[in-house]
Amino acid sequence: MALLWLAVLLTLICHSMTTDHAISDPDPPITNLRIDPQRQRLVWDQHGNVSEIGCYVNSKLLAKANGKLYCSLGDLSCEVKNYTVKVMNGQPFSAWIQYPKQGNPWAAADNLTCRVHDVDQLSCSWAVGKEAPENVQYYFYLKHSLETWPCPKYMQNQQGVNVQCHFDSISLQPQPQRSQPLFRFLVNGTSGGSKIPCRETLHRLQEIEILAAPNITKTWCYENYSFMEWEVRSLFTEDLKYELEIRKGTDLAYREETELETLRLRNPGPYTVKVRAMDSVFFRSRPQGQWSAPQHLDCDRKDASFPLWLVYLLAPLGALLLVGLLFLCRRWPVMRKLFPRVPHVKDPIGDSFQNERMVAWDPEPESQEECPVTQVQVLET
Ligand SMILES: *[C@@H]1O[C@H](CO)[C@@H](O)[C@H](O)[C@H]1NC(C)=O
Ligand SMILES: *[C@@H]1O[C@H](CO)[C@@H](O)[C@H](O)[C@H]1NC(C)=O
Ligand SMILES: *[C@@H]1O[C@H](CO)[C@@H](O)[C@H](O)[C@H]1NC(C)=O
Ligand SMILES: *[C@@H]1O[C@H](CO)[C@@H](O)[C@H](O)[C@H]1NC(C)=O
Ligand SMILES: *[C@@H]1O[C@H](CO)[C@@H](O)[C@H](O)[C@H]1NC(C)=O
Ligand SMILES: *[C@@H]1O[C@H](CO)[C@@H](O)[C@H](O)[C@H]1NC(C)=O
Repeated sequence: MALLWLAVLLTLICHSMTTDHAISDPDPPITNLRIDPQRQRLVWDQHGNVSEIGCYVNSKLLAKANGKLYCSLGDLSCEVKNYTVKVMNGQPFSAWIQYPKQGNPWAAADNLTCRVHDVDQLSCSWAVGKEAPENVQYYFYLKHSLETWPCPKYMQNQQGVNVQCHFDSISLQPQPQRSQPLFRFLVNGTSGGSKIPCRETLHRLQEIEILAAPNITKTWCYENYSFMEWEVRSLFTEDLKYELEIRKGTDLAYREETELETLRLRNPGPYTVKVRAMDSVFFRSRPQGQWSAPQHLDCDRKDASFPLWLVYLLAPLGALLLVGLLFLCRRWPVMRKLFPRVPHVKDPIGDSFQNERMVAWDPEPESQEECPVTQVQVLET
């Protein structure tokens, strides 16, 4: 009997030492629950006939252990998480641990939010943890596979605690591809020499991009149509569509979507329009883009379109200009070659001048040298 008690006691001690918080079970099927950081696994020892085990991270099912003594976790977060294993067949049993084991999770930075904006800017902000000590200081890191970029520029709250980080140009970071890399956005901290648990989010840059306001490049009127063209620059989002908000006269504004980078409206009268870009597939889960400055267009105004009377006025002027240009061009050597001068032929009857030299007259001697001029010596008859 004493031996049995000893066995039970030993199991209990062993139990509470290895698996932090398992249901008191004299013969637990799972013991020594732990993290193997090198292999990024949740590992345990197993006793008895247990066939089905589920692994949970923060109460969400991650994987089933199908006969193995571990679950693969992938990249281990720096954040404190609750790792649980549950026996899913037969007698219910579960055990859990927290990892990493450090400090008060409520001291960690809270509500970490990051945004790409204005094409290549990255800004992150966070709140001071509710139970953070007075002398807390937070530090931000951007990570991608083995590279780490510490925050280049912090902004602080009134107590001097870092609560925002700004990267001026992330175009130098890995370039966008179809399969965009995942970045880690990490905030850890210290307080009087001791560590503060970290906070972390993982995103592809396109997922957190606030698309920049489209640049309106051109507006014009043609016949009864009004046109507007715009362009948007993004380093990370590839497939864009656009939302337009149009207000005609005193009507209520309405919105419409287009995949084109042009708007064409027939007989719109005076109207105001603004446009913003969105990811054409994932627009629901993305931050909203910025609206362009509103454009006021009015094709009915006489000077809004290129007036026809001006065309009639300018056409003869243009023709005159062309003739003038042609006249000037005739003086150029090249034009000379293209249109060589036909030398005058002496009129044997009506000519009253003697020894007349019929030469193309050029007042500039240099240009006379450049272009050989046909000289005709007229002989007396
Ligand atoms: C383990 O349990 C399964 C059913 O859950 C049973 O079929 C099997 O025979 C048991 N194996 C041992 C060794 O007890
Ligand atoms: C960890 O999760 C399990 C269930 O998934 C729960 O029973 C346990 O209380 C959690 N531990 C903490 C510290 O939240
Ligand atoms: C984080 O955001 C939630 C929801 O907006 C809010 O209730 C909470 O107070 C915020 N945390 C801090 C530390 O401000
Ligand atoms: C915070 O994280 C960075 C990057 O992982 C690390 O270099 C640094 O030592 C950490 N600082 C603290 C106080 O934990
Ligand atoms: C333009 O619209 C006016 C009335 O709005 C119409 O009378 C005219 O025929 C239209 N012109 C063209 C070229 O469609
Ligand atoms: C939009 O205009 C601004 C200022 O004129 C310029 O800096 C920016 O590069 C333009 N964007 C695009 C997509 O042309």
